[in-house]
Amino acid sequence: MDDPRGRLTRDGIRIHEAADFAGMDAAGRLAAEILDAVADLVEPGVTTEVLDAFIEERVAAAGARSATIGYRGYQHASCISVNHVVCHGIPGPKLLKDGDILNIDVTVIVDGWYGDTSRMYVAGGLSRKAARLIEVTHDALMLGIEAVRPGATFGDIGHAIQAYVEAQRMSVVRDFCGHGLGRVFHAAPNVLHYGRPGTGARLEEGMFFTIEPMVNLGRPETKVLADDWTAVTRDKSLSAQFEHSVGVTADGAQIFTLSPAGRFFPTQ
Ligand code: MF3
Ligand code: CO
Ligand code: CO
Repeated sequence: MDDPRGRLTRDGIRIHEAADFAGMDAAGRLAAEILDAVADLVEPGVTTEVLDAFIEERVAAAGARSATIGYRGYQHASCISVNHVVCHGIPGPKLLKDGDILNIDVTVIVDGWYGDTSRMYVAGGLSRKAARLIEVTHDALMLGIEAVRPGATFGDIGHAIQAYVEAQRMSVVRDFCGHGLGRVFHAAPNVLHYGRPGTGARLEEGMFFTIEPMVNLGRPETKVLADDWTAVTRDKSLSAQFEHSVGVTADGAQIFTLSPAGRFFPTQ
């Protein structure tokens, strides 16, 4: 899909125009509102396919489209990743049980713009170690966003996330990354959640991308199950993820997917 407006950097990263921020803001807001609304449904005994059906309905009710339905054969309006599932969990008939932690990831298309966000939810009671994992993952995302400004590099973002997570004796998943987005779902660059300061492409005003660190309590290695989507930790340790879509402004970042209800974290 070609996008006629704006320009590309040498690294193939699109620089959007000032007016494009409003498009991303509307798409990001809808995705965040849907994640706010689904929070009330998360409890032991509910299935992840019920949560997904609710999300699909909300996308349609808003007159928007799901970016994931039909994407490379994926058939659902969300990815729902429970416990040791790292990402791309497929909604299904399994019941949530007390103490489960889950990431719900939604991407919507509003007027051609893509809003992509995910956050953590808890069914019932939360163990101390799961609470700590969720907190560290959230804070890692926000530290990554704090590194966003023109002149910084993508390595600065990855380093901020990795240094913090590893100092908490948790690990950053390497096998999946954030991505450019805008009028397309996945574009350059790959936004790594690890790295060295000063490396990688330089950020410029008008770049739009996601930051979506996945953090494991155990080792960072993952494997994809036979369904070709579900990614799990190899060591079966718990995994968490938070995702925002952001735009680079003159002096920092605009977060397009902020929760209007202030429910991004904590999510119960
Ligand atoms: N929303 C995911 C991301 O953060 C992508 C999901 S693609 C799907 O990039 F097909 F699995 F839904
Ligand atoms: Co994403
Ligand atoms: Co996503």
